[in-house]
Order: sequence, then C-alpha cells, then structure tokens
Amino acid sequence: MGSGENWLWWRDGVLYQIYPRSFMDANGDGVGDLEGIRRRLGHLVSLGVDGVWLSPVFPSPMKDFGYDVADYCDIDPLFGTLGDFDRLVGEARDEGLRMILDWVPAHTSDEHPWFLDSRSSRTSPRKDWYFWRDPGRGGVPPNNWSSAFGGPAWEWDEATEQYYLHSHLKEQPDLNWRNPELVRAMHDTLRFWLERGVGGFRIDVIHRMLKDPGLRDNPEIPGVSGPGGQKHIHDENHPDVHAALRGIRTLLDGYDERMAVGEVYIFDPAEVAKYYGKGDELHLAFNFCFLRSRWDAAAFRHEVERFEAVVPEEGWPTLVLSNHDVPRHASRYDHPEWGESRARVAAMMLLTLRGTPFLYYGEEIGMRNTPIPEDRVKDPIARTLHPAVGRDPERTPMQWEPDPSAGFTDGEPWLPIGPDAVRRNVALQERDRTSLLWLYRELIALRRRTPALHRGRYETIDSADGVFAYERRSGESVARVALNFSEEPREADLGPGGVMAGLRTHRGTPLPERCGRVLLGPSEGIVLALV
Ligand code: NOJ
Repeated sequence: MGSGENWLWWRDGVLYQIYPRSFMDANGDGVGDLEGIRRRLGHLVSLGVDGVWLSPVFPSPMKDFGYDVADYCDIDPLFGTLGDFDRLVGEARDEGLRMILDWVPAHTSDEHPWFLDSRSSRTSPRKDWYFWRDPGRGGVPPNNWSSAFGGPAWEWDEATEQYYLHSHLKEQPDLNWRNPELVRAMHDTLRFWLERGVGGFRIDVIHRMLKDPGLRDNPEIPGVSGPGGQKHIHDENHPDVHAALRGIRTLLDGYDERMAVGEVYIFDPAEVAKYYGKGDELHLAFNFCFLRSRWDAAAFRHEVERFEAVVPEEGWPTLVLSNHDVPRHASRYDHPEWGESRARVAAMMLLTLRGTPFLYYGEEIGMRNTPIPEDRVKDPIARTLHPAVGRDPERTPMQWEPDPSAGFTDGEPWLPIGPDAVRRNVALQERDRTSLLWLYRELIALRRRTPALHRGRYETIDSADGVFAYERRSGESVARVALNFSEEPREADLGPGGVMAGLRTHRGTPLPERCGRVLLGPSEGIVLALV
C-alpha cells in the first residue's frame, strides 16, 4: 500500500499488532487462528495499515501462550498449518500488507527438542545451548538472579543434578547466544520464514539475549522483594547483545525490505537508542516510555523530547500506547466524562508524531480491559507474580459484532468477551462516520498522504499548560498538531500558514482556514496540514 517514491513500509507506514488467540476464530474452538485473520484482512485494509505483527503462532505447549516455543519452523495446530500461513502471507501481500512474526530468541519451551536433548545427560552435544550449572555450596542456585516472572531464575533438574537458567517461567529455559552452533541454528529459523516471504520480525526480550559471561550476582536493592529487588545489570542489557544484533541485521540485509523491531524493555531512552547501532542493528527499537506516562501534556512532551534527543540519525523512533503486556491505554486513561475524548486525542498523538506507530488490535474501536473472573484467569504471571498483574484483561477477543460472542467465535471464547461489546464493536462503528474507528482511518490516510506526517522532522511548539503541540516538516510539507490534555478549553498558537487539510478529534467543528490561534475544546486535538 505504497504512497509516493521512497515509501518504506515499516518506517513510513503504520503497523498493527494481532494477538492471534483473540482476533478471529474460524473453526469454532474458541481460540483465534490464521484462517480467522485471513477472513478479517478487509478490516486491516480499510484501516490502512502497512504491516501486521502476529504474536507467536509457533508450536508451543502454551505455558506462556506461545512465548514458549517448541519449534521455530512450524505453526501450532491451534492456529492452523504452514499452508494456512502461506495463504495468509500471500493474500496479505496482495493487499499491500506485510506480515511480521514474533521471534523469541532468548528462550525456548522446555519441550523444544533442543532442550530435551540438552537435559538428557550431562554430556549432551546441546548442553551448552542453554545455561546448565552445578549448585553452589549447600545446593543453592548458581547465582542470585531472579526471574522476571517471580522466584529464582534457576530450576533444579533432578536427573542431571544441575540447575538451568530461566529468566521467565521455569518452562522457558534461556538460550545461550555465546554458543556458535546455537547462533547458526537460530539464524536458520530466520531464513526459514524470510524465504516464505515474511516482512520481518518482532524480537522478544532482546535485552535479555546475552548475559554476563561470568554469571555474576546482581546487586540487591535492600527492602524490595520480587523481580524488582535487584538491579538487573548482569542478566539484561549486556553490551555483547550488540554483536549478536549485527549478525541478525547482516542476515536480514541479504533480503529485500525486511525489518526487525526489538522488544527492549528498558525505560532509559539512551540505552534503548543503542539498539539501533550505527544503522547496523535493529531497524526499530520499541520505546515503551508512553506506557508509563500519565495523562498529561507535559509528560508526553517530555518523553518525546527525551527520545528525539538520543535516537541516532540512522534510527527511527517507535510509538506505542498499548500491547499484550500492559493494560489497554483506553483503560489507563479512562475517565467517566472524558474517556472517549481522550482515546481520540491519544489516537491523534500516536498517528502524528515522528516514528512508526504500533496499534494494538481493538484500540481502533476503543476497546477497554475486560475484567476476568477468578475461575477464568489464564495468564501464568497472575499466579507466579500477582493476580493484579495478569495480562488477560488486555487480551480478550476482538469485538466485531454486537452479538454475545462479539462475532469472534461460534464456540466458547477462551477469555470472556468484553461487557461493552454490544455497544463497542467494529460493525457499529463502521456505520457511524463520527466513530473512533473512522478517526483512526482518517488519521492514517492523512498521515499517508502528508510527507510531513510520515517522514518529517519533529519540533515542539511551546504552548499553554495542558496543551502538547508540535510541528512536523519535510521539505515543503508542513503539519502542525495541538492536543489539549486538559478538561478546559485552551488556545494554541500554531503560527502562520494556510490550512490545506486536517482533522479534529471532535467531529462537526469546521477546520480553520488559516493556522494561527486555534481554539480547542476540553480533551480535543487538531492536526493541520499547511498549504
Ligand atoms: C515479552 C512478551 O511480550 C511477553 O508476553 C512474554 O511473556 C515475555 N516476553 C516472555 O517471552
């Protein structure tokens, strides 16, 4: 779905994350599948996105719902077959959409044949593909590292009388990226999918791919328990990760227009920026700082400026408000009176800032988190960490239609359908030109046809308290944006220039003919493309 010369789909376009279990169930087993996604491609086309990231669809015991991979080169029968996948990639491609797979290089499932082999004896040829260590004195684990999912990061194996390392669940043993054979085997898995025509990869917990070679203890933080009770200086963000990324980049560069976006779950922009290397590491690195921002103009401005200051010239920012690991932003920023308006302002911000926007399925209709009754909880971390951090509420089925199963399944959905599905769904919003869905479509279309919005530089426009305003500029193309985060009317001075096109988050109010001083209602945003 190109637009003009030099259009690069993953940089100039908009990407969309699907959590496959919850997008569309075509076979009535209550879990979404590839055929379901294929049948709903029309929705993605009409939204106007350029690429789709699928959370993992590989064979998996599903202890962490696919982030425990048992075979990197196949499709789990729950989701379909390789044939279904090829068909999806082909049809998506015909519609101008690239598919991005979720590659999980830091750990496998404990049922992956490599791990089964590795744990089969102390002398297995694949022993060193994972981290096996003798116990410390008195049988204690080899070091003090804690798992991100709670408890120690080491699991005792009776048969071999050694511990193995797992930075997440004990069913997710960590891979050793210092072993050259493992590196070769993992590179082969990338080639397998690249040859099948995927557009690229989202790389899971990339900052945990390499660890301190000496496996030194992490410094403890006195008085804090759980995974936050230590400074993860030796088990994450090890500088050697960058050499591994250069290897992956070289491989990707052997193919046309492929990309990698890495999950760098670090909240220090300067560290995240290092994952771009000198244009020889990641194409995109997730910047998750918005996930922790308050609903506050100054907070978002601060995050944008912080990242702008460090992202290298060869790099390109990412914009993320929601994903499968955090509460949906329409819930985070919900408000009895202003919730709907805020979702619209958030959409305008996400789709007009500099960087590649990543939408999370359902945000285009304002889906909220769904409360999960105790007996339907699925996410393992609700058990291993704390019920309050369970991620099921943001993973519930896509709301397509106003029927009891939301048009998602003919069976019993694996997670409950949101209670608001009867009034918040794609079918209803499709018929209402003032809906959030239509705002997303129009914002994406405006971004596509306005070079300033998809490629332009970013500059903050100083504004009144509560307003976040900025200019985007690329050659002759100029756009200005003002977002009122406050609950009172505000004025923003957007400078000189005639207005050629634009959008308001509140429908019905006409656009001004000239830029200048623009009046914004409470929780209202405006984007203006100048002549
Ligand atoms: C990050 C993924 O986004 C999350 O869903 C998963 O549980 C962990 N990595 C472990 O793979």
